[in-house]
Amino acid sequence: MASREQFSSKFGFIMAAAGSAIGLGNIWGFPTQTASNGGAAFVVVYFMMAFALAYPALMAELIIGRHSKSNILTALRGIAPNQASRILGTGVGIYGVIIASLILSFYGIVAGWMLCYLAESVTSLLGWDSASQWLVSFGNERNIISMGIFMLLTMYIIANGISGGIEKWSTRLMPMLMVILAGLIIYVMTQPGAGEGLRVYLLPDFSQLKPSLFVDAMGQAFFSLSLGVGTMLVYGSYLSNKESLPRLGVMVTLVDSGTAFVAGLLIIPAIYVAKQYGANIFTEAGDLIAGPDLIFQVLPTLFESMGAIGMWVALAFFILMSIASLTSSISMLEVPVSLAVEETSFSRRQATLVIGTLIFGCSTVILFNFGTLFDFVINLTTVYSQPLLGLMLCVFAGWIWHRDNLLQEIKAGHPEIEGTFFWKVWPNYVKFVCPLLVLTTLIQSIGG
Ligand code: PFF
Repeated sequence: MASREQFSSKFGFIMAAAGSAIGLGNIWGFPTQTASNGGAAFVVVYFMMAFALAYPALMAELIIGRHSKSNILTALRGIAPNQASRILGTGVGIYGVIIASLILSFYGIVAGWMLCYLAESVTSLLGWDSASQWLVSFGNERNIISMGIFMLLTMYIIANGISGGIEKWSTRLMPMLMVILAGLIIYVMTQPGAGEGLRVYLLPDFSQLKPSLFVDAMGQAFFSLSLGVGTMLVYGSYLSNKESLPRLGVMVTLVDSGTAFVAGLLIIPAIYVAKQYGANIFTEAGDLIAGPDLIFQVLPTLFESMGAIGMWVALAFFILMSIASLTSSISMLEVPVSLAVEETSFSRRQATLVIGTLIFGCSTVILFNFGTLFDFVINLTTVYSQPLLGLMLCVFAGWIWHRDNLLQEIKAGHPEIEGTFFWKVWPNYVKFVCPLLVLTTLIQSIGG
């Protein structure tokens, strides 16, 4: 077998992992959840969840991945010491691959919409009215074509492998994303109404601290760090033994939560600027509009009312959303593709073509049954499956895998780690505390 590809640098890995983590979940999900869950009270709980639960689970994925140098299924089977745990590993691995593919099936649809609005900001600059109209009208033809184009972009990057595909594009796109985000925030902050939005975002309302908020914050943290489905595991498998995993993990968690927080400084003030411009920003129940209407109605109304500059702001905003989606979707597609490449005789290109087409088919089925399937798939994958799979990965790291191997892998690339807080706490934490916390929160969410 040809030698396994690796990220060529630490920076490449951080951009790829941050690219996976930073997505629609950060720029859309986090700010709107914050606004409708008591402002900064949610931010505080979210950061707690991110560092106390998601970071340890991320470490489990990275450590298992780098040790096994393989996809999630082969990795879990490989660290299982006996027949029963190998069967469990196979089950969890297959479940993870299916969930990663299903997440991509709905994510690709939403990302397709981003591409449409991106294209619309160009067609309206050019004055092509009927094209603009088609691009912003919800219809199967538009949805399938845009989702298909987005899937082709995702497949193109994945077909080119790790350093020539994932790393190359993440290191190009992520800095661009940061620059656009910063530019947009600066612009929005100069607009009337931004201050009111900032207050809503940053002033905590602790009366909203109810159990459901913890469930939401946990789901959001797992989704945001792309956990449970083997994306971080497979990215970790392309890391060199010279790198310190705990440090890289902290960096990725910080960049991801930091970007979510910063995105809130754009989205919430922008909503209140839109209010100043006359847009309706509340639902009939009096909550802030947070779903698709926010991105595809409230914000476009704002861009339109800004006059000529609004079209450029719209262009920048939808480029931002498209980049965020693409660097995340490639990590989802890498999960099944890495499995196929490592466990069958398919080449990377063949595997990408076949699996990409299957996921395209899945998205098409969701689109034709939008009312019944879209929200169902989102809930099934992100609210329940991701935390459950995260829990299983902690169980594998803490209970099933031989402890000596686990400790040895932590030490690789970080010889002086013995004696650090991480070394003393994490192995037991991931064994006892993480599974218990995730389980409690999950039971809570099923009960609620
Ligand atoms: N982390 C991505 C976001 O915040 O939008 C979503 C995501 C990517 C979820 C990859 C799951 C995944 F495997």
